[in-house]
This record gives sequence, structure tokens and C-alpha cells, in this order.
Amino acid sequence: MSGLFITIEGTDGAGKTTQIKLLEKYLRDKGFKVVCTREPGGTPISEKIRDIIIDKNNAEMTDITEALLYAAARAQHTSEVIIPALNDGGIVISDRYLDSSIVYQGFARGMGEKLIKGINRYAVGELEPDITFFLRLKPEDGILRKEKQTDLDRIEMEKAGFHQRVYDGYVRLSKRFKDRIKVIDALESVEEIHDHIVAYIDELMKKNSI
Ligand code: TYD
Repeated sequence: MSGLFITIEGTDGAGKTTQIKLLEKYLRDKGFKVVCTREPGGTPISEKIRDIIIDKNNAEMTDITEALLYAAARAQHTSEVIIPALNDGGIVISDRYLDSSIVYQGFARGMGEKLIKGINRYAVGELEPDITFFLRLKPEDGILRKEKQTDLDRIEMEKAGFHQRVYDGYVRLSKRFKDRIKVIDALESVEEIHDHIVAYIDELMKKNSI
């Protein structure tokens, strides 16, 4: 595979979408073929699976069902979109990938990293992002800031704990995979964050002679 696989990770509301658009423009302006995609989703089948996962009416969904659905969506996404684009020499930018499952299902839901990695072996094969940006936003600086304005009820309290575990999980992963996962402070300005991302990408492309 000759392309470049970039993933963007972070807690909800960290500004991933804005940064993906800016990075896409930067790379297109340089003449690269760029495919922007997202998880869960990215293909018609995966988008249907996404609808099942996020449907509020599916409250009875078990943790294992959820984890398998994310992996199923990822399997289709990997083989239908990501691998062909990379084989074609393109640059793929994915809003979330396997790290999301490790952090949300493995750490935050408490299913464990080993189980999640095992399930996802069928979905990702040998594919690993070349570089991952973790837009770091503390829960209290994001979603929870809003919730603090009102009294937290039991469910909101649970949500707060969940978001904290997601945050802690990303911090843990990024410490372990320092070479691949670049941590960027999401409280910096849009321009500053973009500049950091571009600096890392330029360095990686130089290293890989792209
Ligand atoms: P989405 O609306 O795309 O959230 P965001 O804009 O924050 O990316 O919904 C995706 C949600 O699914 C998000 O809360 C993270 C979660 N998720 C997992 O729990 N596991 C996964 O493997 C993936 C890809 C996402």
C-alpha cells in the first residue's frame, strides 16, 4: 500500500470535523488524492449499521452487540473504502477508527482492550493508521461544561463518568503509542491546531518520501 492513512480521534465536541476539512483542503491544494471518511459509517452498509447503533429506540442493546456492530461497520469500511483508496496511492483521513472502539467499548464500557482487539482483528486485518491525532479536550471543558449549568441527574452523572473514562483511555493509549498518536490540545485556536497537524504530516511525508 502506497498511500497514507490518517485518523482523527477525540471526545465528542473536540473539533475533529473542522480540522478534517482544513487538512483535506491543505492536502488537495498540494495535489494529493484525498478521501475523507468517518466511523461508524463511510459506506452505505456501514451507515445503516451506524443508524442501528445510534438509534435511541435501541436502548436494550447489549455492550457486546454494540462492539460487534462497530466492528462490522469497520470491516465493510476498511475493505470497501480505506484499503482501495490506499492501494490507489490516496490519502485517507478517517474521523475515528479502531482506537475509538478500544477507548469507548474497551475502556469506558469496561469490556477490556483484549476483547475489543480480538473482535476487530477480523475488521482491520493488518491495517493500522500511519498517524493519529488525538484532539485532547477534558470532559469538563467540553460537553460537561454545559451539563454543569444545570443540576446533574443520575444519568448525567453516569455520562460524566463515561466521558471521563473515554478521556483517560485516550490519554493512556497516546502515552503507549507515542510514535503514532500525536496529542494536540483542543483548546488551542482552530489555526494553531491546524498548524500542528500540518507540521506532523509534512514531517511524516518527508520521512516516507511522499
Ligand atoms: P458521532 O455522532 O459520529 O460522534 P462524533 O461526532 O463525536 O465523532 O457518533 C459516534 C459515536 O460513536 C461517538 O460518541 C463515539 C462512538 N464510537 C464508539 O463508541 N466506538 C467506535 O468504535 C466508534 C467508531 C465510535
